[in-house]
Amino acid sequence: MNAIAQHAVLHSPSLQTGALEIRDLSKAYRIEGQPLPVLQQINLSVRPGEFVSIVGASGCGKSTLLRLIVGLEADYEGDILLDGKRVVATSLERGIVFQDHRLFPWMTLSKNIGLALKNHPLSQAEKDRLVAEHIALVNLEGFENAYPHQLSGGMAQRAAIARALINKPKVLLLDEPLGALDALTRVRLQHELQRIWVQQRCTVIMVTHDIEEALYLGDRVIVMDAHPGRIKHEIVVDLPHPRDRASTVLQGYKEQLLEELVGH
Ligand SMILES: Nc1ncnc2c1ncn2[C@@H]1O[C@H](COP(=O)(O)OP(=O)(O)OP(=O)(O)O)[C@@H](O)[C@H]1O
Ligand SMILES: [Mg+2]
Repeated sequence: MNAIAQHAVLHSPSLQTGALEIRDLSKAYRIEGQPLPVLQQINLSVRPGEFVSIVGASGCGKSTLLRLIVGLEADYEGDILLDGKRVVATSLERGIVFQDHRLFPWMTLSKNIGLALKNHPLSQAEKDRLVAEHIALVNLEGFENAYPHQLSGGMAQRAAIARALINKPKVLLLDEPLGALDALTRVRLQHELQRIWVQQRCTVIMVTHDIEEALYLGDRVIVMDAHPGRIKHEIVVDLPHPRDRASTVLQGYKEQLLEELVGH
C-alpha cells in the first residue's frame, strides 16, 4: 500500500467513526473575578456522518461550544467524547472553518492548504497530490498559485474548507462559514457543501444564522437559547440528501423553526 492509501485508511472517516457525545457540558468565563455562565447542561449526541446545524441568538454560546469541541479550551465541566475518547486538546481528527478564512496572506492557495499536512510523514509528492485533490474537490483548479487577496470571498472560504478537510477529520466544525458572503455566492456554496459532505460523510456541526441554510443542510437543527446558553429545541429534518431547496416539506420545517425562534 502506498503512503497516500495508508493515509486514507488511517484517517478515512468510515461510517463507524466520528460519533460525538456531549454530556452535561457547562462552561463559565470569569469576568472581573465573577463567573459568567455561558453554556449550561448541554447534552447532545451526534451520529457518525450526521450533519447537525445549530441556530440561536447572538451570544448564546454557539462559537464557545465549537471551540470546546475542537479542543481550543479545556476549562469546562462535563464530557465531550469523540468515539468514546475525551477531547483534551486540538487534534487532526477535528477540523474547523470560521466566518473569516484565516488563510496566510503571504502564501499561495496551494501552500496554505498544504500547510495543514505539515506534520504528516508523507513525501512531498504525495502531499502535493493530496493538495491537488482537495483543490479540485472545492473547484479551485487554476488558482493554485494565487494569493488570498487575489481570491473572492467565496473562493477563500472554499480554500478554508479544503484546508480543514485535507486531514480527513472525523468531525468538521463550521462556525458561520458562509456568513460573510453575498446571497448568491452563499446559495452556491451551500450546494457545494452538500455535495462535499455527501461525498466525504464526515460528521459536521455547522453554526449559522440563516435558517434556510440550517434546514437545507442539516439532518437536525438544534435551537439554542441564551443566558445561559442551552439547547432549547431540536428539529429532525427528515429528508434525504441531496435536497431540493424549493421543497414544500422544507418550507414546513422553516415555519416550525421560525415559530421556535421568534414565537407565534
Ligand atoms: N474569551 C471570553 N472571555 C469572556 N467571555 C467570553 C469569551 N468568549 C465568549 N465570551 C462570552 O460568552 C458568550 C457566548 O459567546 P459566543 O461567542 O460563544 O456566542 P455566539 O452564540 O457564537 O454568538 P454570535 O452568534 O454573535 O457569534 C458571550 O456572552 C460572550 O461575551
Ligand atoms: Mg459565534
